[in-house]
Amino acid sequence: MEIRQADLSFPWNGVLEGEQVSYYQKWFKDIKSIYMNSEGMSEDTLMYTVFSKEEEAIEGHLNWGLTVLEPVTVNGECNMTRGHFHQDLNCQEYYWCSQGHGLLLLMDEQGECWAEEVKPNSLHHIDGHLAHRLINTGNEQMKVVACWPSTSGHDYRRIENHPFPVRVFKENGKIVVKERT
Ligand SMILES: [Fe+2]
Repeated sequence: MEIRQADLSFPWNGVLEGEQVSYYQKWFKDIKSIYMNSEGMSEDTLMYTVFSKEEEAIEGHLNWGLTVLEPVTVNGECNMTRGHFHQDLNCQEYYWCSQGHGLLLLMDEQGECWAEEVKPNSLHHIDGHLAHRLINTGNEQMKVVACWPSTSGHDYRRIENHPFPVRVFKENGKIVVKERT
């Protein structure tokens, strides 16, 4: 029997590596519209990086990814991902935190919103009908590993049209949640 090496690994720097791994980065200029106040921020601030190994969109196939959110605030507002619904609302997802502290913001289709605390080794099962957004409230990179069906799709527009109803700030080291105005 031949013993082979796995296709993917998390080497010492905690970043997903493997032949078929790709990544993209979001800079402040790409996502400034999601923040309450974008004044004074450098357009070239790195906000987050998403590594993934993605399969063809065939039922039963799974993607694997890693999101690394930088410990940045935007005029006090904590760094966050754009957030999305899945295009196929039957497609669930798992998130596992490998480093850092923050929140997983969840919102149902009626707009009700709540959060789960994200901390090292917290494991989050996300119902397919929930929008999801990661927020780094800590002082270090937050790393969250994800597994989701390759047929999920990402619906970002739905979040743009019906945004999460809260914003998360860090004020004097404390996390403050504010209603979106
Ligand atoms: Fe997702």
